[in-house]
Amino acid sequence: MNLPNLKEAAKRSKNSVEVVYLDKNKKENINNKKYFLRTYGCQMNVHDSEEIKAILENLGYTFTEELDNADIVVLNTCAIRENAHDKVFGYLGRCKHLKQSKPDLIVCLGGCMAQEEVVVNEVLNKYPYVDIVFGTHNIHELTTMILNCKHKQDINVYSIEGKVYENIDYKRDSNITAWVNIMYGCDKFCTYCIVPYTRGKQRSRRSREIINEVKSLVEKGYSEVTLLGQNVNAYGKDLSDELSFARLLEEVSKTGIKRVRFVTSHPWDFTDEMIDVIAKYDNIMPYIHLPLQSGSSRILRLMGRRYTKEEYIKLFDKMKEKIPNVAISTDIIVGFPGETESDFEETIDVVNHCKYDGAYTFIFSPREGTPAAKMQDDTSLEEKENRLYRLNEIVNKYSLENNKKLINKNVKVLILGVSEKDENKLYGYTDTMKLVNIVGDKKLIGQIVDVLITDAKSFSLDGKVLKSN
Ligand code: 5AD
Ligand code: SF4
Repeated sequence: MNLPNLKEAAKRSKNSVEVVYLDKNKKENINNKKYFLRTYGCQMNVHDSEEIKAILENLGYTFTEELDNADIVVLNTCAIRENAHDKVFGYLGRCKHLKQSKPDLIVCLGGCMAQEEVVVNEVLNKYPYVDIVFGTHNIHELTTMILNCKHKQDINVYSIEGKVYENIDYKRDSNITAWVNIMYGCDKFCTYCIVPYTRGKQRSRRSREIINEVKSLVEKGYSEVTLLGQNVNAYGKDLSDELSFARLLEEVSKTGIKRVRFVTSHPWDFTDEMIDVIAKYDNIMPYIHLPLQSGSSRILRLMGRRYTKEEYIKLFDKMKEKIPNVAISTDIIVGFPGETESDFEETIDVVNHCKYDGAYTFIFSPREGTPAAKMQDDTSLEEKENRLYRLNEIVNKYSLENNKKLINKNVKVLILGVSEKDENKLYGYTDTMKLVNIVGDKKLIGQIVDVLITDAKSFSLDGKVLKSN
């Protein structure tokens, strides 16, 4: 048994990171058994689940959407806010009932929550029927944990700085767009954030491995890659002889993939070189997710964000000026400990200046083990909810305004599939990452087509196909 330890997880040494080339997944013939997989949280977790799927399918399990039909349940969890916890514990409750009628059911908990001491202690004390707990550093060990499962709690979570794994087998959700990890972990330690503890030290992959992965995706017919990292701008900084993110982006662009995206950027190390590269290459999409978190320089300092309100606005304005047609979205936290009404108004001020294309807004959620969880917090939940409501009103107003500007315009959309809400419609994304629901022929799935925008809502556009390329 290996239990998580947040103090260990916070350590950062100067030691170089080991690169491990994984062997092919073990193949077994577990016949007629089904897996149920639920994924919570960010794109990194969504991509990790593609690794988990490959592991399960190589063992012989087939996918089921119904929890009740499952022989193995895997919850890939998120720790970023408390409500993510609540959902997972709710699911575990359902698994308890299922296990009563199906004692052979294997229940697995993985991902960021598994890296938290509080969660694992709760699983040990209150959820004895959870068979396997694995963390973010050892997904590849899931195969052996499943094959050796004796229905006695097997907890294997490592609070280490982490390694870099290559040759990971993925069962990708799409054959049009693909996630590509360029780095793991984060060393920024923003005071509210649990990620540097759950995901370990920043570890960049070698650029040659990344480029090879993108080239093989191009050969397989993929149209779009999204480069993934907690803070992509810091790419390569943990290695002495690696490309900067700007140069990496350029190399990825030169593979000839039709569309390149990246998430997430930290405003602190977003260089002019990066802005120039994004502006220069047509296949690098003009869309940047640039988390603000707060518009108050005082709160930003308490958050450990390393930029002021003025520096953020300056960077934002430069992006808008230099990258034609760029769309910018953001993340904002309200109710950080000590945030006053006047701090909040500074946030509103930045939103009014930036008029974001979209924003994810959150109420501060104290994460055990992070510095902000210990800060004095006198604002009531009611007041925080009120701020969130006021913020969302403004944020949604600007998304709608920006979307409305596209009505009667011709935009390029990569068609990804049939709309979930209306089977007569297709859906896809503009280069600026706006969701479009389109009347069109299913044969267009996978193509980049010219679409006339006919209507706009806060979170999506409607359109009709003009011509396919
Ligand atoms: N409370 C609320 N929101 C948080 N985020 C990260 N940690 C917390 C927290 N403790 C938000 C940030 C980040 C996004 C992914 O989640 O805005 O950018
Ligand atoms: Fe968390 Fe800050 Fe790292 Fe983003 S940059 S993952 S908010 S610590």
